[in-house]
Amino acid sequence: MACLTVLLVLVVLVLTVHAVYDHGDYHDGSSDTILANLGLSGSDSQPPSQYAADFLRDVVPIACHSHNDYWRKVPLFTALHAGCIGTEADVWLVDDDLYVGHDQSALTPNRTLQSLYLDPLMDILERANPSTNASSGISTTPRGVFDMSPNQTLSLLIDVKTDGAATFRKVLEQVEPLRQRGWLSTFDNGKVQLGPITLVGSGNTPFHVVIENSTYRYAFFDAPLDQLEDSMYNSTNSYYSSVGLRQALGIVWFGWFRNSQIERMSEQLQQAHERGLKARYWSLPSWPVQVRDAVWGTLIYEGVDLLNVDDVEAAAHADWTKKKSN
Ligand SMILES: *[C@@H]1O[C@H](CO)[C@@H](O)[C@H](O)[C@H]1NC(C)=O
Ligand SMILES: *[C@@H]1O[C@H](CO)[C@@H](O)[C@H](O)[C@H]1NC(C)=O
Ligand SMILES: *[C@@H]1O[C@H](CO)[C@@H](O)[C@H](O)[C@H]1NC(C)=O
Ligand SMILES: *[C@@H]1O[C@H](CO)[C@@H](O)[C@H](O)[C@H]1NC(C)=O
Ligand SMILES: *[C@@H]1O[C@H](CO)[C@@H](O)[C@H](O)[C@H]1NC(C)=O
Repeated sequence: MACLTVLLVLVVLVLTVHAVYDHGDYHDGSSDTILANLGLSGSDSQPPSQYAADFLRDVVPIACHSHNDYWRKVPLFTALHAGCIGTEADVWLVDDDLYVGHDQSALTPNRTLQSLYLDPLMDILERANPSTNASSGISTTPRGVFDMSPNQTLSLLIDVKTDGAATFRKVLEQVEPLRQRGWLSTFDNGKVQLGPITLVGSGNTPFHVVIENSTYRYAFFDAPLDQLEDSMYNSTNSYYSSVGLRQALGIVWFGWFRNSQIERMSEQLQQAHERGLKARYWSLPSWPVQVRDAVWGTLIYEGVDLLNVDDVEAAAHADWTKKKSN
């Protein structure tokens, strides 16, 4: 009996927390109604794309990298709507297809890399670039996903969870339609050309697969931010450089960085920037909100290129202007 009571209390608690969380996620007005409704259209499907184009029209891109966004019903659109210029999917190779989810037991047939990310991106870019056609080749600079800032690249970070080489080769195979249209960032003939989408391999992605073609690449590596010194990583083979905050700098108590931690961070950021890489720390504290905001504020001030965020709406409202001058 006592057991049952405890269980009941726990269930109520979990439901309450869940409700509060959901509410926090969809708090302001019409766009949120759109997002909420999108998830209801049958499958875990994506919105009709003209709808998407409309509601992405006024989005101002900001330096956030949306993490864990597959928890949401429409992960890609939630990230894009907040203006995040980076999005991330945990990818598993199962039965020769790529599934998206935070652990293997959560995978379902309808949540694939193709259905949640690649198809909708293809769709958005086709609408943004109506005049380019596959046979006429690529003449003009293609427009990216953000109408307000068409040259902004969107990084698609693939966190490979299963066997590295096999999974990443499958990713390379599945992005082929985007590559053929000229919509992926490339390294070609010694030059990096950013396109609408920058494909980045992380997790189990093997660096040797990323660099196996020495003259032509359309995928980049997520280089370890705390191991850049004397390394091979630079913008010809990598795009992001990242590390867990605690691994890089130790525990940040109550959101306050010690001087030694700030110095360490400066060195890491300098290493990344000298190599032309975008620096990012992951596993940032998300709670309490004051601690999270203090950490965000310091990282932005010190010159981190993208903030890893779970709450994209909060990120959309953060102040991105307070940077120290060099
Ligand atoms: C999942 O996708 C299949 C087709 O692959 C479809 O028939 C089915 O209705 C979808 N299920 C849900 C719950 O959306
Ligand atoms: C695509 O490009 C080819 C070659 O330039 C041209 O012949 C064709 O009409 C174009 N198709 C469309 C739909 O614009
Ligand atoms: C985008 O880049 C192209 C080529 O680099 C340039 O001609 C164009 O002016 C840029 N557009 C904007 C809006 O910055
Ligand atoms: C690298 O890619 C280019 C362009 O696809 C191709 O022509 C070349 O053969 C590739 N090189 C190797 C070593 O695979
Ligand atoms: C980037 O790194 C590779 C591998 O270490 C090196 O061969 C190349 O010269 C470097 N390129 C630049 C522009 O630094």
